Amino acid sequence: MGGKLGTIFARAGHDVVFSYARHQKKLERLARDAGANARAGTPREAAEESDVLLLAVHWSRLDDILSQTGPLSGKVILTCSLPLNAQNSELVIAHTMSGAEAVAKKVPKSKVVSAFNSIPSEVLFDVFDSRNRKDRPSMVYCGDDAASKKIAAKLIDDVGFDPVDAGPLRIARYTEPFALLVAQLAYDGREGPELAYRFERY
Ligand SMILES: NC(=O)c1ccc[n+]([C@@H]2O[C@H](COP(=O)([O-])OP(=O)(O)OC[C@H]3O[C@@H](n4cnc5c(N)ncnc54)[C@H](OP(=O)(O)O)[C@@H]3O)[C@@H](O)[C@H]2O)c1
Repeated sequence: MGGKLGTIFARAGHDVVFSYARHQKKLERLARDAGANARAGTPREAAEESDVLLLAVHWSRLDDILSQTGPLSGKVILTCSLPLNAQNSELVIAHTMSGAEAVAKKVPKSKVVSAFNSIPSEVLFDVFDSRNRKDRPSMVYCGDDAASKKIAAKLIDDVGFDPVDAGPLRIARYTEPFALLVAQLAYDGREGPELAYRFERY
């Protein structure tokens, strides 16, 4: 998710720092492929230099990444990370709490927006390539800070989705299980994971 979204953000004109992987060479390759707006850096550099941080790690890596970024107070954290167990089969946080809210609790004074978790990574470049179409796929997002949500909506739009404001961060209690439904359709279906969704109003 981080590699693909970072590449798309860079191609859409944003400055991007790729950070957090086991091999620095992977981050450098991603930055090279993403073009002139991208570079590789440490999590601390990414956190210090960026207005918006994309949290795109497995739930089991959350404490590790947060221990490497330095203070994140005041930062906009866009999280697509789902609170999944090691097998990626069950949400370990649900119903009365969400992963996004747990991140917000762990990082005092950060501005967490939950987005991009309800889409398989495999479809992202296709959505970006067809961003000029009229009926764009939807992307739900939620958060408590209006200014941060505006930034998230712009990034969602830049990728090629129609941003759907689902409300405050607590709504991630609904969007995170919904993301598992999308994953079920994407990965257990016969037609491949290049799947997006669209809400229609009548
Ligand atoms: N994939 C999807 O379609 C999708 C969709 C919706 C939501 N999500 C959620 O988005 C999050 C990211 O998913 P993903 O599929 O992008 O995961 P991923 O491919 O495993 O990428 C996570 C990043 O963490 C790095 N990483 C893993 N272990 C590390 C370690 N010990 N030290 C340093 N870096 C480490 C990985 O680098 P390496 O290359 O070294 O492993 C990679 O850069 C997850 O929470 C997932 O639930 C994913």
